[in-house]
Amino acid sequence: IVPAAQHVHTLLASYPDFPLPGILFRDLNPVFADALAFRAIIDELTERYRGQFDAVAGIEARGFLLAAGIGYAAGCAVLAVRKGGKLPGTVLAEEYDLEYGSARLELEVGQLPAGSRVLIVDDVLATGGTVAATARLIERAGYTMVGVGVVLELADLDGRSRIGDTPVHTIISL
Ligand code: PRP
Ligand code: MG
Repeated sequence: IVPAAQHVHTLLASYPDFPLPGILFRDLNPVFADALAFRAIIDELTERYRGQFDAVAGIEARGFLLAAGIGYAAGCAVLAVRKGGKLPGTVLAEEYDLEYGSARLELEVGQLPAGSRVLIVDDVLATGGTVAATARLIERAGYTMVGVGVVLELADLDGRSRIGDTPVHTIISL
């Protein structure tokens, strides 16, 4: 069996100057498109936090892919944390900074019992702004964030420093 990290190192694609000059874009789609790689990632993240979470929250967009797989593997609830303006009813919203301007993430209220333990997942941890905003949504909704799982961490950007004491598991760090 090939470890998830080896799959990611082999399949990860990198595109200089996309979408803007100076940005090195890391494309995980070839990793998700490989059946064994996708399964290895889902298995590793699920095992890392097994027994510690009642729900998994995926961040739009590629976090949804991970959350669906982990939710199925663990037999737990799945939450979709969406970009702003896409959810109906009563929603919580958090703004976060991007390289240029800001963006907004939202979560519908009342989906889980109070105190539910939630694992947050996304494809990439860069500055940590996206995960930090999601963590605020989870806490404001009355749940407890118990861990973060990502496929790729860009260590130079030190996103972990914005996440606090919560465990962060990454398949690979570059
Ligand atoms: C990318 C990536 C993470 C986020 C990480 O998403 O998928 O969600 O950036 O960056 P951060 O740690 O600096 O916040 P992006 O905002 O580009 O949107 P997308 O997932 O919809 O493509
Ligand atoms: Mg994203």
